[in-house]
Formats: sequence, structure tokens, C-alpha cells
Amino acid sequence: MSSEHLALAEHFHAAYGRACTGIWAAPGRVNLIGEHTDYNGGFVLPFALPQVSEVAAAAREDRMVHVRSLLNGETAEFSLDGLAPGVVAGWAAYAAGVLWSLEQAGHRLPGLDLLIDSTVPIGAGLSSSAALECSVVLAATDLAGVDLPAAELARLAQHAENDFVGMPCGIMDQMASVAAEAEHVLLLDTRSMSTEQVPFTLAPDDLALLVIDSRAEHRLVDGEYAARRAQCEAGARTLGVQSLRELTDDGVAPEELPARLPDEVTLRRVRHVLTENARVLAAREALRTGAYAQLGEILSASHASARDDFEITVEETDTMVQTLLSVPASDHVQPALGARQVGGGFGGCVIALIQADSFDGLLAAVQDNARRRGFTEPTGFLAHASAGARRLA
Ligand code: GLA
Repeated sequence: MSSEHLALAEHFHAAYGRACTGIWAAPGRVNLIGEHTDYNGGFVLPFALPQVSEVAAAAREDRMVHVRSLLNGETAEFSLDGLAPGVVAGWAAYAAGVLWSLEQAGHRLPGLDLLIDSTVPIGAGLSSSAALECSVVLAATDLAGVDLPAAELARLAQHAENDFVGMPCGIMDQMASVAAEAEHVLLLDTRSMSTEQVPFTLAPDDLALLVIDSRAEHRLVDGEYAARRAQCEAGARTLGVQSLRELTDDGVAPEELPARLPDEVTLRRVRHVLTENARVLAAREALRTGAYAQLGEILSASHASARDDFEITVEETDTMVQTLLSVPASDHVQPALGARQVGGGFGGCVIALIQADSFDGLLAAVQDNARRRGFTEPTGFLAHASAGARRLA
């Protein structure tokens, strides 16, 4: 065990008075591109972060679950018998929901002692909740002796979030957390659930992926997310398709949409999904051929679509993207090749494809600008595509 894992094992011992059986980890994610396409049967292209949720766990003789978080020192206790949506609230609902989801699917679990820690920034749109769900789903299935394919683990975690926590998310975050591989982005077709690992190493080309947390307060996120989803579903009904993904299969051009969608808002929502699916596939091609300038343009076009058609960006993230793209070139800094807000929207993180040695200059430019405008100071780091969920010890 590394010293880090040892520390979690020791905390487990202190909390529960016995040794843990193992430690499992599941990462947060950055979505390179493909926003709000997953619940429309479309394509996404996420990768896993090195930042993970970790859980130390051991089975119990009874059907009780004790779950403790090192992040806030809180403990929740509940029984697997009678576990139902509403019984557990707050952060522990993500763990409880996964156990509920597993039992709903017919997997009988033992009681569990769980100790959770996480390095995934919370509330930044980097899927700290999916990381927590996936670390627990992995620990629980392992301890119950249940072996499930990645897509099923992701589906069970998504079910927990949809029907236990009450957030109508798609499958992207959970799939990225369980199925991503180091040095690759994961091309996922959310309708067929087929995946392709696309090599994603920027360093040999002296490039890097900058992640900046805008630290903009999320505003009405859950309500707005559900509203966007409902608008997409309404658009699909008007167009007479099962999901908006069919528009891609049918080769529908964005210019054809206005004649078929009289409502202006629905038109814009549908246009975002249609064009975003095309951008995901174009981004994969750009990665395959090493066409990074083009990849940058695709990322920036995704941001414009999220801003103008899907209306999920905020002033803070729009300004950051603008700054990253328009910083005057000098000996120390080159403007980003492309930038976009990532995740569900209304704040969270912006990513930028940059020259590796422009990291300091670009971050400083974004921070200066935020300070001048009276925004909270953003923080940034370089993200490397890392491994998916796994047992650590
Ligand atoms: C959130 C959801 C995902 C996905 C993104 C937007 O992260 O959890 O399922 O819909 O928003 O692309």
C-alpha cells in the first residue's frame, strides 16, 4: 500500500475499530466535447482526471451501512432493508443510492462500513458525485462477489443519481469514471453504449489541456438542467423522432431545422444537440490526425453553441473563454487554440487547449481579468487523461 492509501486504511481503523478489506477509487472527469448530448442518445468524448474519490470498505455481518466522509467528518447510518429514495439525504445519498440501485437490480449486498475521501473538486462540474457513486459501486460489488461489466456499473450509478438523488443526468459521467483509460479520451455512443478509446497525449506536441475552475456560483443548475432536457424531448416529439440523435443518423442539416421547429427556443436547443454531435465526431477525427488547430476551433465552436443556442454559460465563463482566446501573443504566452465551458453548465470549469509553456501566462491573464471584474479568483491546473475506476489495495 502507498502511504496515501495507508492513511485511508488507518482512518478506517480509527473509525470502525477494525481493518478495511480493500480500497477502491473512481475518478472525476473532464468532458473534452459533447455537452448535453448524452441524454439525447448522442456522442460524448470525456476523459478521466487523476483526481479520485476513494472508499475504504469492509462487509458487516448485519444489513446496516455506516458511511463516513473524511471531507466533512460526517457519518450516516441506515439499513439496507427499507432503503428507499428520501431515506438518506445530502452527500450520503450518493453512496446510499448506489446500494439501493444494486439491490433493486437483484444484487443482494452485505451490510457495509465505508470511509470516503475525495480529491475531486466539488461543485466545479468535474463529476465529484459520479466519482463517489462509482467508487462505492465498485467497492460494494467487489465485496458482494458480483462481477459486472463497466456499462452496467455505470448504469446502476446513473440510476442512483436519477431516482434516488433526483438529478436527471445522462450516462456520460459515470461511464467516463468506470471505463476511461489513461492517455485516452473515451468516445461513447450513448445510444448503443459502444465505446472507443481514442489516444489523447498532448505532451509530445508541446500542448496541454488547461482546466480552470471559474468558481462562479452555480445558479439554478438542477432546475435548468431538467428544463434543458425537457426542451430537447419536446423538440424530438415535434420532429417525430425517438431521440435527437436520429437527426444525425438521418443526415439532417442544421439549416433544415427552422422549417420544422416553429418555436424559437426549441429550435436553438435542438440545433445545439445536432451540431454538438457533429463536433464530437469531428473532434475525434482531429485527434486521430493530430489536427490540433482544428480541434481548438471545434472546442471554441462548442462554447459558442452552448452560449447562444443552449444558453448554459454564464458571464464568468464567457469572459474566461474570451480572455483565453484573445490574450496578446508574446514570448511568454500564446493564446489558447480553443476553449469552452465544460459539464452541465451555469458556471463550473472552462477547459482550454494550450501550448504547454503558456500555462502560467494564460492562468494569470484569466485571474487578472476576473479580479478586474470583481469575480471570484479562478484556479487552474493541467489535466492528464488518467485511469478509470479500480481497486487500489
Ligand atoms: C452533467 C450530467 C451529464 C451530462 C452533462 C452535460 O454532467 O451529469 O450526464 O448531461 O451534464 O453534458
